[in-house]
Amino acid sequence: MKMETKQNPPPHQSARCAHRRWPASRSVARHLEDSIAVPIDPCAVSADTPGPESELGEPLSLQSLTEPTIASTFRMSVDGDRSRRPSFAAPKPRHPWTARSMNTAIDLFAGAGGLSTGLRVAGFDVRGAVELDPTSAATYRANHPSTHVVVRDIRSITGPWLLREVGLERGELDLLTGCPPCQGFSSLRTRRRATRSGDPRNDLVQEVLRLIRSIRPRAVVLENVPGLAQNPRFSLLRSGLTRSGYSHDFTVVDATRYGVPQRRKRLVLLALRGQRPVPVDWAAPTGIVFRTVRDTIAQLPPAGGSGDPLHDAPERRSRNVLARIQATPKDGGSRRDVPEEFALDCHLASDGYSDVYGRMAWDSPSPTITSGCHNPSKGRFLHPQEDRAITLREAALLQTFPPSYQFDLSRGKEHVARQIGNAFPPRLIEPIATRLAQEVLS
Ligand SMILES: C[S@@+](CC[C@H](N)C(=O)[O-])C[C@H]1O[C@@H](n2cnc3c(N)ncnc32)[C@H](O)[C@@H]1O
Repeated sequence: MKMETKQNPPPHQSARCAHRRWPASRSVARHLEDSIAVPIDPCAVSADTPGPESELGEPLSLQSLTEPTIASTFRMSVDGDRSRRPSFAAPKPRHPWTARSMNTAIDLFAGAGGLSTGLRVAGFDVRGAVELDPTSAATYRANHPSTHVVVRDIRSITGPWLLREVGLERGELDLLTGCPPCQGFSSLRTRRRATRSGDPRNDLVQEVLRLIRSIRPRAVVLENVPGLAQNPRFSLLRSGLTRSGYSHDFTVVDATRYGVPQRRKRLVLLALRGQRPVPVDWAAPTGIVFRTVRDTIAQLPPAGGSGDPLHDAPERRSRNVLARIQATPKDGGSRRDVPEEFALDCHLASDGYSDVYGRMAWDSPSPTITSGCHNPSKGRFLHPQEDRAITLREAALLQTFPPSYQFDLSRGKEHVARQIGNAFPPRLIEPIATRLAQEVLS
C-alpha cells in the first residue's frame, strides 16, 4: 500500500534540506542505524495488516521515523501560527490520504510527542495535538509536521471546536489519547509531602472526561503514574466513563516488558465506546526483546564531538562534584560506594535518595528517566563509564524516541530534559496501539 504524496514538497521539508538543518542528530542517527542492533518490535507493524509506509514502500518503524522520513512521507504544510488563534473558517481537508482507512487519533497533553510517535508507528493518523507549553509544542511540530498542533490550555477548548480543527464529526474519531500532567499523583511528590488531591493539575483528568463526552471517540487511552489509581479523581473518571457509555479497564504496565530499556511503571486505561467488552489481555506485550542501557547507548559516538547538539551540550561541574563523580565505581556504582572524603556535605547530613549521583549499570535497564535526567543530583543519571551525566540524546534514546528526534534546545537543557522525562515512551504505547488498531478498531 502506498501513501498518497504530493510531487513537489515545500523545500524546507525535503530530506536534503532537513539534513542541512539537523546535521548533528542525523549523524548520531546514522551511526545508530548502522551499528546498533535495536530490533524493531516484531509486533509493531504486522505483515498482514499494513501500517503507514515510507515512499519506498517500507513500513514505518521507530528507527525509520526520523525527521526526513516524516517530512518526505507526510508532506503537509506546517502552519506555525494557526494554532495560536482559533479558526472558525470551514476546515480545509488536511488529511487527503485518510480515505484509505487509517485510524484517526487526537493526542491531548501532547508534550514533545512521545505518545504520538508510538501511535504513528502503530499506523494511526494523528490528526490533532493539544499542548499548552509552546516549547514542547515546537518540538512536537518539528517532528510531526502533518499533525495540527493546538497550543492552548485544554480547559479553554471545546470538543466541537477541536473536531472542526481536525476536520472530523462527533463520533467519528477513532482514538482520543491523553497523558494529563502527573506530578500531583506521583509517589515521589507524595514523599515530599505535597498533597495528592490538592494539586490543581489533577483536575485536568476531569477535562479529559469532558472532551470524551463531547467528542465521543470510539476508543480512549489515558496514561498516568500508578498513583492515580488511589486518587478519588480516578474513581470519578471511571464512573463518568461508565455513565457516558464507555466500558473500560486499566492496568499498570512495566516498560521493561515492552522493550523499553528503562524501569518505568505507568497506569494505562483503555475505554471503548458502546459498552463493548475490553479484551482481557489488551495490554499484554508479545515477542518483545528485553533491552538494556548498553543496547541503547553504548554505540553512540563520544559526547561533545558528535555533531548532535543533544549529545554535545556541555555540562559544568565544580571540582568537588567532578572528583566525587570520578570516584563513583563504574557500571552501577552508588553514592554509598564513594569514600567519605569525596562525599558532598549535603549528603553527609542526609541518607535519603540513595540513587542520586549513582551510575547507571550497562546490563540493566536505566532508572526512570525523569525531567531531571540531565542532572546527577536528581537521580541515578551518571553514565555507566564516563564521568558525566547522560546526555539529552542518551536520555531520549532510553525513552525510545527515534535517534534523530529533534528537540528545541533554544531555551536550555532543562526544557529539553523536561520534555524527554515527561514523555510516554513510544515503544511502550506502540504494541498497545497496534493491537487496538488490529483487533478493536478494524
Ligand atoms: C505528561 S506530559 C505529556 C507527555 C506526552 N504525552 C509525550 O508522550 O511526550 C503532560 C503535558 O501536558 C501539558 N499541559 C499541562 N497542562 C495543560 C493544559 N492545561 N492544557 C494543555 N496541556 C497541558 C504539559 O505542558 C505537558 O507537556
